[in-house]
Amino acid sequence: APFVCYQNGQLMVEGVALSELARQHGTPLFVYSKAAILAALAAYQRGLAGREALICYAMKANSSLAILKLLADAGCGFDIVSAGELERALAAGATPSKIVFSGVGKTRAEMRRALEAGVGCFNIESMAELDVLSDVAVACGQTAPVSIRVNPNVDAKTHPYISTGLKGNKFGISHDEALAAYRHAASLPGLRVVGIDCHIGSQITESAPYLEAMDRVLDLVTQIEAAGIPIHHIDFGGGLGIDYNGDTPPAADVLWQQLLGKLDARGFGNRKIMIEPGRSLVGNAGVCLTEVLFLKPGEQKNFCIVDAAMNDLPRPALYEAFHRIVPLAEANPAAQTTTYDVVGPVCESGDWLGRDRALAVVQQGDVLAVLSAGAYCMSMASNYNTRPRAAEVLVDGASARVIRQREAVQDLWRGESV
Ligand code: LLP
Repeated sequence: APFVCYQNGQLMVEGVALSELARQHGTPLFVYSKAAILAALAAYQRGLAGREALICYAMKANSSLAILKLLADAGCGFDIVSAGELERALAAGATPSKIVFSGVGKTRAEMRRALEAGVGCFNIESMAELDVLSDVAVACGQTAPVSIRVNPNVDAKTHPYISTGLKGNKFGISHDEALAAYRHAASLPGLRVVGIDCHIGSQITESAPYLEAMDRVLDLVTQIEAAGIPIHHIDFGGGLGIDYNGDTPPAADVLWQQLLGKLDARGFGNRKIMIEPGRSLVGNAGVCLTEVLFLKPGEQKNFCIVDAAMNDLPRPALYEAFHRIVPLAEANPAAQTTTYDVVGPVCESGDWLGRDRALAVVQQGDVLAVLSAGAYCMSMASNYNTRPRAAEVLVDGASARVIRQREAVQDLWRGESV
């Protein structure tokens, strides 16, 4: 059975009824399935079986400590993008050598801290960053392990805000400049070239952009190695999409079988493979529970006003993203429905969770579940409107435990003064 589904008319996460969790812990509440996360990971592990490979979970997708710990225990490393994420990963028990440090704007302080912690690789995104990292490493008496993030200029066919592999965005070094960048890196005293890196975007639902990008990256590996610079690992980034609304991304194992076929055919089958999946590991393992505060029928629209908002679940407001919204008690498919915009209490018209949703009889006090809320929801939550962030629960079989307490209002002005 799926990890999030109706059983006897009740929406469950594994063996736990969501209505019970909402009653015990209040709303808004994020609930995650441990088995769903491990099953998503297992698909990658199957796809990469028999290879030297490291799965570095892109922790920006959901950086709650218990989720990190779960993935660290399952053998994952982490893809981090800030010193904050580094400290979080270490606090959760990450192995430093399994951490890769990505991002276009690392500060010197962040570089120093990452060197001191012993991260496995810096993914470098500009010529200027190569120079600064070399400087910092020399000053620390170290050589920094580096990959260069190359931009294969393929269209991932996803939302422009989350597409990163095309020319004309801030990420990576262009295909044309990559060889020069590698030559420069190899000449710097504080750097040691270990690999190559690429990431073409997020919520990718087709195989073609990946296959194309792999060809482009392997072309570069050939050129770089011909220049006498060995590439020990190929980091192929993350980006695999999930089913939000009938989307049909390739399964991770199937995709990786195809990609490894390409590597083998071109004689790169012996290279260590690294990947940086985020959304596809956690996205469909989580739901957000929210209570219906008021129903507000209107001339043009009916509004269903709920207690979760854009500060809790910012993807609809930011990307017009679609998340399914369903009741906790299974609706009779023959039941009459009413069309609502499901909106939060925040004082902005952009504060909506779902538009024009046909919901069977909802009443004030009902709890709804916003699905596919495991990735880029809690990790992007804010305190806008001085709203404390939601609590989080991790379900394992028939048991559930709170992994993050609901934020207290007093916490929101800690460090401030009048
Ligand atoms: N590696 C790098 C260098 C990245 O920038 C990202 C995501 C990942 C890996 C993981 O990508 P994933 O497997 O999760 O697609 N907030 C947006 C998504 C932003 C993705 C940013 N980078 C959203 O909610 O759709």
